[in-house]
Amino acid sequence: MALILLSLTTLLLSLFLLPTAHAQSAPPPTPAGPINITAILEKANQYTTFIRLLNETQAANQINNQVNNSHDGMTVFAPTDNAFNNLPPGTLNKLTNQQQVQLVLYHICPKFYSLESLLTVSNPVRTQASGQDNQVFGLNFTGQGNQVNVSTGIVEVPIYNALRKDPPLAVYQVDKVLIPKEFSEPKPPAASPPPNGDGSGSAAKDGGAAKAPSTSSPGNGSGKMNVGFGLVSGILLLCMGLLSS
Ligand SMILES: *[C@@H]1O[C@H](CO)[C@@H](O)[C@H](O)[C@H]1NC(C)=O
Ligand SMILES: *[C@@H]1O[C@H](CO)[C@@H](O)[C@H](O)[C@H]1NC(C)=O
Ligand SMILES: *[C@@H]1O[C@H](CO)[C@@H](O)[C@H](O)[C@H]1NC(C)=O
Ligand SMILES: *[C@@H]1O[C@H](CO)[C@@H](O)[C@H](O)[C@H]1NC(C)=O
Ligand SMILES: *[C@@H]1O[C@H](CO)[C@@H](O)[C@H](O)[C@H]1NC(C)=O
Ligand SMILES: *[C@@H]1O[C@H](CO)[C@@H](O)[C@H](O)[C@H]1NC(C)=O
Repeated sequence: MALILLSLTTLLLSLFLLPTAHAQSAPPPTPAGPINITAILEKANQYTTFIRLLNETQAANQINNQVNNSHDGMTVFAPTDNAFNNLPPGTLNKLTNQQQVQLVLYHICPKFYSLESLLTVSNPVRTQASGQDNQVFGLNFTGQGNQVNVSTGIVEVPIYNALRKDPPLAVYQVDKVLIPKEFSEPKPPAASPPPNGDGSGSAAKDGGAAKAPSTSSPGNGSGKMNVGFGLVSGILLLCMGLLSS
């Protein structure tokens, strides 16, 4: 009896569910999926540090959303792992959290630029770090023939490899980290209200002490990475679900 009931219910359920399931799975023939900066960089296999920074600063989400939602598109200059390894030791760890975010955003322009358009763009070019202020955190581009260099004022590097070159997102390899000249200028006085305390002066310590040991051997830590990514994508999916509902 219980069996019959059960099979009856299944039958009824499937009668109800099948048509709707069909109706739902028919309309979306989306082959391409949304643009995912992390996936683009992962495929190229030499951007683990930049991926980590994009993730930690939420810039990856920002890029994916903005590429989908803005008409201007975006351009990302992606420093290789070698570029990060070639920085003077401790460079990243010496940055404050805010500067780390600025550094990442400095590698992102809120507009799509083809390589050709970079040859003739008017300098300086706004980055995501510029905010409303066009005068800071700009990048300069200089061209000769069809060779383009990008310059920060203290770092200059050629652009020769596009990981992605179709609108709305361009991603270019750079072999140096684009350190903004703003980092080496004296800080505005407003940022330092001294607490007049015990004078130990270690206030800036928190800036990322836990990040140091991960730089070497990009090869075989992949197990941990996958767990991290799984978690992140889970959270991401959850957030997207919440947002789109
Ligand atoms: C991404 O960032 C989150 C915290 O925002 C962290 O838990 C996760 O491990 C990071 N994943 C990667 C691959 O860096
Ligand atoms: C892309 O944007 C459209 C409309 O702006 C929105 O409906 C869609 O959910 C977005 N997709 C993603 C993956 O964010
Ligand atoms: C680009 O920069 C390199 C040095 O990194 C320099 O030798 C070259 O002349 C520059 N090219 C242009 C077009 O500015
Ligand atoms: C860009 O070039 C202009 C002059 O052409 C200069 O004033 C400015 O400092 C440069 N900025 C960077 C980031 O190199
Ligand atoms: C990771 O280690 C395994 C063996 O432990 C090895 O077969 C594999 O080639 C290594 N992968 C990389 C990227 O080094
Ligand atoms: C983007 O790609 C990464 C790596 O392939 C993946 O972990 C993440 O879930 C993707 N993000 C979205 C929003 O699909």
